[in-house]
Amino acid sequence: MRTQVAIIGAGPAGLTLAQLLHLEGIESVILENRSREYVEARVRAGVLEQGVVDLFTEAGVGERMAREGLVHDGIELQFAGERHRIDMAALTGGKAITVYGQTEVVKDLIEARLATGRPLLFEVDDVRAEELESERPRVLFTHEGAQHVLDCDMIAGCDGFHGVCRPTIPASVLRTFSREYPFGWLGILAAVAPSNDELVYAHHERGFALLSLRSPEISRLYVQCRPDEDIAEWPDARIWEELQIRLGLPGWTLAEGHVLEKGITPMRSFVTEPMRHGRLFLAGDAAHIVPPTGAKGLNLAIHDVRLLAEALTEWYGAGSERLLDSYSTDCLRRVWRAEHFSWWMTTMLHRPEGDDPFEVRLQESQLRYVTSSRAAATTLAENYVGLDTV
Ligand code: FAD
Ligand code: PHB
Repeated sequence: MRTQVAIIGAGPAGLTLAQLLHLEGIESVILENRSREYVEARVRAGVLEQGVVDLFTEAGVGERMAREGLVHDGIELQFAGERHRIDMAALTGGKAITVYGQTEVVKDLIEARLATGRPLLFEVDDVRAEELESERPRVLFTHEGAQHVLDCDMIAGCDGFHGVCRPTIPASVLRTFSREYPFGWLGILAAVAPSNDELVYAHHERGFALLSLRSPEISRLYVQCRPDEDIAEWPDARIWEELQIRLGLPGWTLAEGHVLEKGITPMRSFVTEPMRHGRLFLAGDAAHIVPPTGAKGLNLAIHDVRLLAEALTEWYGAGSERLLDSYSTDCLRRVWRAEHFSWWMTTMLHRPEGDDPFEVRLQESQLRYVTSSRAAATTLAENYVGLDTV
């Protein structure tokens, strides 16, 4: 087998890259180790920046998102028993975010890929990227019991945090930066209309909670827990009780409904530098992780592949390596801005380990500042909707 760009991973990064390359007439093969059903059902992100919405629209995969996505102009921060609105549109010259589930993004992208007739292989095994430093890299894999070799010009490592691409880069050329947080998020998807029109990020003495949504009929809710907690310790009744306490306000109750899905995600920050080794380019979670508090992970993945598609287009078209050479540096500027924002939101909103009273006072002070100073609120708003220039 031979192609121009071998793409490992059919998450948002790999699928979007394939679509952008297709529009430029560049061939690719996508290799995914899970099944289509699994990939389409994996509940994760829900918040898209305006720039990402625009990119999906221009790439021809935005039709259902335009119909079903919910545009939000603001978010609410709750602390000390009160809610405060951050009017993102007013603070950023009219920018907004769109609530549209990652499951839906992935379904739309898979449908678009299948319509092109270009290869997308699910349930591949033993994927190995080789000869990265030569001009003839290749990917070895097994599919339906047979072994294959895929020769290519370039390899895109879009295989997420636990993928195989990053570990193939020699440790001596990689530098990694990381922070593990002493908490996780327990997330549920529930069949009940959201109890608030906008997202609510709540600081509470029992821990952080987030009210989000997927549609007018489906709520998405999270509570802070320990990262190693067993989901079996959280029967639905306990989750609702905790959400009622942490999100509760006098005169307002959270409507409860059937829990459709639940899971625990540990929270971490992680960055790999550089994001390229020879002919292997890392994109999305394969190269960096942010804690979900800033809603940046999926958005970063899409920004990476936009730059990678531009760089490959210039290389195939004009033969210039300029954008390929600056790919890692160009991505990392935005990545580090998102790393800082996500770390800042996380440390401002989560109950610290040991309930450290000094840290709690700092959090309360910062929350009061962000909700009373236009300058501080603008900092939050412009990062949340996505910065164009960093
Ligand atoms: P992935 O989605 O992880 O895709 C990688 C793909 O590669 C997967 O399909 C995987 O099966 C495949 N793969 C792995 N190993 C191999 C292999 N060896 N061979 C072949 N294929 C392989 N981000 C936001 O922007 N906004 C949010 O609101 C938000 N909320 C989140 C909430 C939660 C609870 C979680 C967990 C994450 C959230 N994120 C959010 C982060 C976001 O989901 C990720 O950043 C995003 O999925 C990254 O996309 P990706 O394509 O880089 O990686
Ligand atoms: C979500 O709806 O899943 C969501 C929303 C905001 C976040 C993280 C996740 O910060």
